[in-house]
Amino acid sequence: MDPITALLDDVLDEIAPQDAGAPADYIPELAAADTDRLAFAVVGPHGRVRAVGDDAAEFTIQSISKPFVLALALQELGRERVLARVGVEPSGEPFNAISLEMGTGRPANPMINAGAIAVSSLVPGGDVDERTARIVETLSAFAGRSLWVDEAVYASESATGDRNRALAHLLRSHGVLEGEVETAVEAYFRQCSLLVTVRDLAVMAATLAFGGVNPLTRRRVIDERVARDVLSIMGSCGMYDFSGEWMLRVGLPAKSGVSGGLLAVAPSQFGVAAFSPRLDTHGNSVRSVLVVEELAERFGMHML
Ligand code: DON
Repeated sequence: MDPITALLDDVLDEIAPQDAGAPADYIPELAAADTDRLAFAVVGPHGRVRAVGDDAAEFTIQSISKPFVLALALQELGRERVLARVGVEPSGEPFNAISLEMGTGRPANPMINAGAIAVSSLVPGGDVDERTARIVETLSAFAGRSLWVDEAVYASESATGDRNRALAHLLRSHGVLEGEVETAVEAYFRQCSLLVTVRDLAVMAATLAFGGVNPLTRRRVIDERVARDVLSIMGSCGMYDFSGEWMLRVGLPAKSGVSGGLLAVAPSQFGVAAFSPRLDTHGNSVRSVLVVEELAERFGMHML
């Protein structure tokens, strides 16, 4: 076994016994998750994926889609047009809070639901299918393989998504949402329902770490400038109302999702991802947070 995989195995043994938290239950399909699953992966500059635990387990990407759809919008429209619709300040509030800026009605940032729905609505495409296709194509390029929507989770999201619809109506009333509410939220529910593994997320993180070039496929997915913008916003807003403490403890731009996934980016060094369904009160995975914190410590990845 190579020394990096041995180190990952060691961290797996250390963190596996932690059993605090509970899976998300506001979407019925997520409540049914196998809560014992734990996996994580790292990808370096040569695109070699090292993974331990349940690394073949698929789960829905959820909020971890947000930075990648933001990347797509920034790439297509440029920074100015995106920032006209969404801010870049931490909200200090939960992911599903209203958090709109006084006066402009812009959501605080693209990592909370309101901001992500606004950003998703900017993706070119006349209807849900066209927009979803653009999103799936881009996230697949980040992952280096074709990703698919989990239709059962999508149906569950849509059936229980009234709060997100309400947020979208508010955005539309402020002129911040592009197009119709239903188109925007259905495309957003689909982007959240894409199936990934920790391996995929680690490659996606690595693509941001290496300036927008996927180290596995060697393909440029986005411009270097866009990758930097996305990482900057993940750095201040990626872990919701835990973002400040996360930066203090771990020191890496990161993004979490309610199905228990977490990815972190050590610029020019590593893409890192973890998965474990039990969440803390902020909606971040308890064991994924511990894993990435431990890896950052052992690899000396804290940026500061
Ligand atoms: O918008 C929602 O409710 C979810 N489908 C995605 C939210 C999410 O992952 C927030 N994360 N912690």
